[in-house]
Amino acid sequence: MGREFGSAAARWCHLLQTEARPEIVAVCDANPGATQWFTDNFNVTQITADYRELLANPDVEAVYCAVPHNLHEQIYCDIISAGKHLLAEKPFGIDLAAAEKILACAQEHPQVLVRCSGEFPYFPGARRIFHHAEAGDFGEIIEVRAGFLHSSDLDPSKPINWKRKIATCGEYGCMGDLGMHILHVPLRLGWSPINVRALLSNIVKTRPDGKGGISDCETWDNAILACETSQGFPMVLETKRISPGDMNTWYLRVLGTQMSAEFSTKDPKLIRTMPFAPGSAQAWRHEDVGYESAYPTLTGGIFEFGFSDAILQMWAAFVDELTHGDGMDGDFRCATPEEALGSHHLFTAALESQRTGMTVKVADGSHG
Ligand SMILES: NC(=O)c1ccc[n+]([C@@H]2O[C@H](COP(=O)([O-])OP(=O)(O)OC[C@H]3O[C@@H](n4cnc5c(N)ncnc54)[C@H](O)[C@@H]3O)[C@@H](O)[C@H]2O)c1
Repeated sequence: MGREFGSAAARWCHLLQTEARPEIVAVCDANPGATQWFTDNFNVTQITADYRELLANPDVEAVYCAVPHNLHEQIYCDIISAGKHLLAEKPFGIDLAAAEKILACAQEHPQVLVRCSGEFPYFPGARRIFHHAEAGDFGEIIEVRAGFLHSSDLDPSKPINWKRKIATCGEYGCMGDLGMHILHVPLRLGWSPINVRALLSNIVKTRPDGKGGISDCETWDNAILACETSQGFPMVLETKRISPGDMNTWYLRVLGTQMSAEFSTKDPKLIRTMPFAPGSAQAWRHEDVGYESAYPTLTGGIFEFGFSDAILQMWAAFVDELTHGDGMDGDFRCATPEEALGSHHLFTAALESQRTGMTVKVADGSHG
């Protein structure tokens, strides 16, 4: 993910009308081999395996940090305490206690901007749905479904990695790994889960360890969360590492009494909408939404939008907020620490629901 951000910085000129641009001045990775790409492509003045050295560098104003989940609490708190702005990765702490500590640290340093990564709401189709919801176009909401689906773990011969171990990924498993991505838009709209019945599954229980042996896969592969929201409508969320045929498929579907809408990255140009008035036909409209970005770019509106465009737009939102604060130009800030904490309340309740087989109340209305 660090290289994705480096690449976005390298094409900042793609954005029109930017007052500030990021400059990659320092890179840290515990694995020295991972830094070579940066030295090959940027004029970095500091390469280090010790992030504390990077935090002591006065030229570093902001940090993008993508490390395994067990390191979030310590490294994020150290970054914030050093007075560096932070674009952190989800799940924003390995568990609820870690997320609470990171939020407390952010609140102790209000001059530091702390946000959590989540690029999918910057896809044009997702933005359209967000704007329809904000405008109240759906009427009464009947139901919301959101999901993030992967399939590479369907192959049982894929070697184990840190995401299959509780010590490094966390007990949430696929929920911590994928869940913030699908909660970002609902939580921003105030669609907070108040309770959850979770169905969690661990499908591939062992994997090659890459050293000739076999290792246990301890984390949940798939999660289906059936929630009641604070507004009273049902919301079904699914995060799956084993969803045959799906490759990084993020979707959002909102059904309402006056309008329904659906967007999926599986078909990244397409938005499906169905306006409805009594007497009118119930017919879905299929529209190619094109390149309709939050921050204008030199790509024409007729072209396609993709993952690396979403990363660029998300980072532009972070830089915009860093530059302009509440008066930022864009209309969708990156996920806040409070929203990230809301996702932890939901995942913690989901674990209890799986253990007990019961519907479990979600603390704090799930938005922190
Ligand atoms: N936004 C997204 O779409 C997205 C996609 C994938 C992963 N992620 C998130 O990014 C984070 C990292 O995931 P990844 O897939 O990039 O993992 P990764 O294993 O590919 O990269 C993690 C890097 O952290 C380095 N590292 C480990 N310990 C370190 C330390 N103490 N100091 C410095 N560097 C250290 C590793 O050497 C490695 O290069 C996770 O929080 C994950 O959930 C986000």
